[in-house]
Amino acid sequence: MDNCKAPREPQELYILVTGANSGLGFSICCRLADEFLSSHHYDDSLTIIFTTRSEHKAQETRRRLEAHLRSSTASSSDTARVKFVSESVDLGDLLSVRELSRKLLQTIPKLDAVILNAGVGGWSGINWPEAIWGVLTDLVHQVTWPSYKIAPVGVLTAKQTPEKEEPALGSVFCANVFGHYMLAHNVAPLLKKAETPNGPGRVIWVSSIEATIKCFDINDIQGLQTKTPYESSKALTDILALTSDLPSTAPWAVDSFMHSNSGTKADEAPTMYVSHPGICATSIIPLPLPLVWAMVATFWLARMLGSPWHPLSTYLGAWSSVFLALSSQGALDATESPYRHAGGGRVKWGSSANRFGVGSLSSTEIEGWGHGGVVGTPVVEADRNRPRRRGAKDLTREEKEKFEELGRGCWKQMEELRIKWDAILDQAEQNKAAAANAQ
Ligand SMILES: NC(=O)c1ccc[n+]([C@@H]2O[C@H](COP(=O)([O-])OP(=O)(O)OC[C@H]3O[C@@H](n4cnc5c(N)ncnc54)[C@H](OP(=O)(O)O)[C@@H]3O)[C@@H](O)[C@H]2O)c1
Repeated sequence: MDNCKAPREPQELYILVTGANSGLGFSICCRLADEFLSSHHYDDSLTIIFTTRSEHKAQETRRRLEAHLRSSTASSSDTARVKFVSESVDLGDLLSVRELSRKLLQTIPKLDAVILNAGVGGWSGINWPEAIWGVLTDLVHQVTWPSYKIAPVGVLTAKQTPEKEEPALGSVFCANVFGHYMLAHNVAPLLKKAETPNGPGRVIWVSSIEATIKCFDINDIQGLQTKTPYESSKALTDILALTSDLPSTAPWAVDSFMHSNSGTKADEAPTMYVSHPGICATSIIPLPLPLVWAMVATFWLARMLGSPWHPLSTYLGAWSSVFLALSSQGALDATESPYRHAGGGRVKWGSSANRFGVGSLSSTEIEGWGHGGVVGTPVVEADRNRPRRRGAKDLTREEKEKFEELGRGCWKQMEELRIKWDAILDQAEQNKAAAANAQ
C-alpha cells in the first residue's frame, strides 16, 4: 500500500472588495491581508482586488495598503504572498458596473468572495435638537438606532444611457443594492470557479445594524417614496441575503441569479452571506472635525455603558466580513449550525466589541428573522444575554413566514429589474456601436 500523501496544491485566493479607499472598505482589505497571512499555509497567496472611483484614489489606496502590509508583516516573503490590484467602478452607473464585470471575467481565473461594501447614506443633514435630546436622554439606543438623520425623498441617479426614455433608478438603492446586485450577477461565473475548502464562491453583503423591515416597503423596493432610503436599502440587503438559500426564492435566487450563464448543478452555486460592522467612526455621515470628536466620544460612552455594537475602529468593524470571506466552508457551516439545527438558516453576522474594545463575531437580531431565523427563544446563550433593541420580541412562526414571503417578492422584483436593465444597457451599447460604425 502506498502511504505517501499527494503533495499539497498551493491555494490562490481572489477576493473583490468594493469602496476600499476609506472607512470600512480600507480596513477590510488590511484585515484580509493580516488574517490571511496568519491563518493560511506559507505556499498560499491572496489577490485583493479593490475598487475606488478615481485613479487618484486608487493610487493613494494602494500606497496605504502596501504600507500597512509592510508594517504588519515580519518578512518580505510574507509581503509577496498578498497582492493588491486596483479597479474602478461607480455603482450608481450601471455601464461602469458592466465594464468592471467584463474586465474581471477576462483578467482573473476565479473569485473566492466578493465583499459588497461600498455604500452611501444619502442624508442631507441631522435634526440637531432631536439628536442632542436623544443623546442626553437615551444615549445607547439613539447612537445605535438613530432617528434623527434627514434624507431627501426620491433622489434619482444620473441618466444611465443616452437613450431618451429610461426608467427611474433610485440613487441610494442603486449605489447600495442594485449596482452590487448587477455586479455579483455578472461575476457569478468567476464565483462558480472557486474551489474547496473555501468554495463555492461567496457574495458577502455589508449591511447595517440600523436595517429594519419597518423602513421597507415591497411596493417601493427602490425606496423612492421613503424618508429613510438608506435604511430601506439595507433592509432589502438583509432580506435578499437571508432568504437567498430558501427553496421559496430558488426560482430567482438560484435558478436565475446564481446559475447565470451556465447550467451548473445547484451545489456549485455561489452562496450569499450578510455582515455588518456595528457602529464605526467613518465619514459616511460627513461632519466637521469638532463634531467628529464628539461622535467618537459618544460612541465610546455607549460602549462603556454596555452597547455591544460600538467597535468604533473600522479594523474591528471589518471582523465579520473578513471572517465570512476567509473561513473554510466547514468553519462557516459550524458557526451557523446551532441556528440550522434549531430550524433556522442564514445569520446576520455583526462585528461587536466589549467595553475594553475586544472584538467578536455576533449574531444580530432582526425583526422578522430573529437570530438566524430561529422561532422562539434564541438558542445561543450569547444571543440571549446580549442587550436587545427596545421593543424586540422573540420571533414567531407567522413573522418568519411573512419574512420568507417578503424574500420571495424581493428576489422576484430584483431579477425582473435586472433583466429589464440588462436589455436597456444591451440596446444602449448596440446603438453606440452602430453609431461608431456609421462614422
Ligand atoms: N460606519 C458605520 O458605522 C457603518 C455602520 C453600518 C454599515 N456601514 C456600511 O459600511 C459600508 C462602508 O461605509 P463606511 O462607513 O466605511 O463609509 P465611507 O467611509 O463613506 O466609505 C464608503 C465607500 O463607498 C464608496 N462609494 C460610495 N458610493 C459609491 C458608488 N456609487 N460607487 C462606488 N463606490 C461608492 C466610497 O467611495 P468615494 O470615496 O468615492 O465616495 C467609499 O469608498 C457601507 O455599506 C455602509 O452602509 C457602516
